[in-house]
Amino acid sequence: MVAQRGFDPHRTRLYHPRLRSITPSQTAGTVKILIVGNGGREHALLWKLRRDAPDAELFVTQPNGGMRGLATPVPLAPGEIQALAGWVQANGVDLTVVGPEAPLAAGIADHFADRGLAVFGPRKAAAEIESSKSFAKGLMQRHGIPTAEFRVFDQLPDAEAYLREAGAPVVVKASGLAAGKGVVVCETVAEALMAVREMLGGSAYGTAGAQVVIEEFMRGEELSVFALTDGTDVLAMLPAQDHKRVGEGETGPNTGGMGAYAPVSLATPELLERVERDVLRPTIAAMAEEGRPFRGLLYAGLMLTESGPRVVEFNCRFGDPETQVVLPLLRSSLLEPVLEIARGGSIAGARLEWEPGAAATTVLASAGYPGDYPSGLPVHIPEDPGVLVFHAGTRDEDGRLVTSGGRVLAVTALAPTVADAAERSRAAAERISFEGKQFRRDIGWREIARAGGGHA
Ligand code: AMP
Ligand code: GLY
Repeated sequence: MVAQRGFDPHRTRLYHPRLRSITPSQTAGTVKILIVGNGGREHALLWKLRRDAPDAELFVTQPNGGMRGLATPVPLAPGEIQALAGWVQANGVDLTVVGPEAPLAAGIADHFADRGLAVFGPRKAAAEIESSKSFAKGLMQRHGIPTAEFRVFDQLPDAEAYLREAGAPVVVKASGLAAGKGVVVCETVAEALMAVREMLGGSAYGTAGAQVVIEEFMRGEELSVFALTDGTDVLAMLPAQDHKRVGEGETGPNTGGMGAYAPVSLATPELLERVERDVLRPTIAAMAEEGRPFRGLLYAGLMLTESGPRVVEFNCRFGDPETQVVLPLLRSSLLEPVLEIARGGSIAGARLEWEPGAAATTVLASAGYPGDYPSGLPVHIPEDPGVLVFHAGTRDEDGRLVTSGGRVLAVTALAPTVADAAERSRAAAERISFEGKQFRRDIGWREIARAGGGHA
């Protein structure tokens, strides 16, 4: 259950005077919204859309253990595109919001849009900005969007020869979708050679590794910036910082993300303006120019280098766990711009309103994650009205909550400062129990250090 108490109901007031109001497009009465996906990001989307439209009827594909009671289950998987479109049509759903990248890369938005169904998420050709790193890098190169220098290879000997010449540190990436595991940051040439051999020579990465991108190692802090876009205009959201490594102090292997916080003080209004001018707007314009108009949510993963912000990667959907901190801080409606974009409208002139404080989320993961992990373990979450517990890998087993994934929960706290939010999130994470629970106790450490170790 997500605790709702302790929050100011005025937070949900709408702030998009120029956008169309929310009226059901196909049905008389209640607005019907389907969320595709069932992780922590989708739980946060569900929570926010529920606040934006308390009377809406919400549906989720195969809801996790925390979504039950908040939405009506739809017994179809995110990948069952045809069946989902049929279900949406038969049930008069007004809006479908797609959470994960896989159905977008498989063309769910094309399928829905071609049937006249309002869907939030880019078409397949536009989703390639995430599903093909070689396409994304080429796009940035063609349009002068700042990113690491790179080369693309599909033949092992060529990649090996290039690596010997380029030296280390260097970054080796499988071009296709690899669930966050396709990037190897290599300190030595030997490590890099091993990575390309595994991708181009082995079978560990499947088709995702048939092409590799070898790129320059960039130094700096990372920043995640989400932008809502109608294909022309962009509405940047509050920047967040993810914690990708499994261990405290950025140690151990990369994960999907072990925690996040927002806002990030490095992301000044000037920096954000530069990101919009040099990255977000040119990318959306480039996609349109190349015949792949991007409508939906563009996620820019940036490296704040000495020479300015440069793109590490683009994603074609909301980030996880950044969504779990960004949406609780969004005071204005998410539904209004999302619906406008999904219906093919314009967000020109729209604004987003943010809460003044900070948010931090701590991910609780199963033992062994990001490697193999057990599942089916009982989870106990004490009542805690001070935090939002977003479920990711949980399921309801005959009325008992049990683990069902690597990342199990994301515990979000709001407070006046990042330090306070992180402290509250950590304290709540300590009180939740399941066997083998692991989590980072240093969420927000960079920001806390910047603020002088405590209260900004
Ligand atoms: P990606 O999946 O492309 O976001 O990469 C995963 C992580 O690898 C990023 O969040 C960075 O921490 C790191 N990374 C990727 N590319 C680079 C790069 N060119 N330089 C430094 N670190 C990188
Ligand atoms: N948090 C990283 C991602 O969503 O890709």
